[in-house]
Amino acid sequence: MNRCRPLFVLDRWLERFRALGDATRVELLAALQGDELSVGELAEVVEAAQPGVSRHLQALSKAGLVVARRQGTTTYYRLSADEPVLAGPFGDELRTMARGRLGQRVERVLTRRRSRSESFFDAAEDWDTLRGELFTDAAGYSSLLPLVRRGLTVADVGTGTGGMLPFLAQVGARIVAIDLSAEMLRRARAKARTLGLDDVTFLRGDLGALPLESGSVDAAFSALVLHHAPRPLEALREMRRIVRPGGAVVVVDLMSHGHDWLRDEQADVWLGFGRDEALDLFAQAGLTDRRHQIVSRVDARDRKGGGAAPFELFVLSGRVEAAA
Ligand SMILES: C[S@@+](CC[C@H](N)C(=O)[O-])C[C@H]1O[C@@H](n2cnc3c(N)ncnc32)[C@H](O)[C@@H]1O
Repeated sequence: MNRCRPLFVLDRWLERFRALGDATRVELLAALQGDELSVGELAEVVEAAQPGVSRHLQALSKAGLVVARRQGTTTYYRLSADEPVLAGPFGDELRTMARGRLGQRVERVLTRRRSRSESFFDAAEDWDTLRGELFTDAAGYSSLLPLVRRGLTVADVGTGTGGMLPFLAQVGARIVAIDLSAEMLRRARAKARTLGLDDVTFLRGDLGALPLESGSVDAAFSALVLHHAPRPLEALREMRRIVRPGGAVVVVDLMSHGHDWLRDEQADVWLGFGRDEALDLFAQAGLTDRRHQIVSRVDARDRKGGGAAPFELFVLSGRVEAAA
């Protein structure tokens, strides 16, 4: 059996040893023990001129001892993970060096990073404006979703084309999507398939007699459906019935508006719901801990004959009282 190592393995070791044959390079490796640092920062830490430090880092990178990462015009370096040379006794030596003088200089560099940030924010009076350009409300709410415990069973009542399924899937381990229209269900099924949502059951059913056992879901959710319900209170009572004690009912719908044309063009039965009216329906349906919030508003001036009233969307939630 040929026990010789392939030549390229030996070449790699030679490359490493060649790269290590310089005191500044050893200091650079020690400086990088805990942090990723830029060429400029490393030059300050090892007290050497930047072009020379740059060349040393390129040699270390070629030998596979450090990894470079570009951000804009700045190149940052970090130690290679799982590099055998850096793990053994030589690595211990580097860590000892990092606890001394070099480490203090690294700390100084990091303190400067921190204080740059601190003085920027101390003076950033228009931060909310800057932030708002990127951090939309949608981004804010999406960032909250991971905080919600997953694993809920949620009924999406009047799922339509399944527009809410990707959102519900963030909190629901199991979703039951219900709709009266076979065509809407077909399209919702196709959407779920495209999005790779496996745990969705599709059921044909009516708001007035939902096809689920009492107390069988953790939450009943419904978006833009209540204004189609012949009897909204009956629909809410049904949603309450299928939710287990302690669970939630959430309805998203339009605030009252004067756009009569929606009756003909989109089969709307109700022209939205006023705040008190919606809260009262929830109360009559036996839902407690009721919370109402307007979450979006669009200008409707150019829509046919509805006057200037904007379309506003509300979210109303309530709880099914937990069993005593
Ligand atoms: C405007 S779509 C909303 C769809 C979806 N929730 C969304 O957010 O995109 C209203 C849906 O309610 C369904 N719907 C209307 N009346 C219903 C009823 N009585 N029972 C069950 N679903 C109904 C319609 O078929 C339609 O899919």
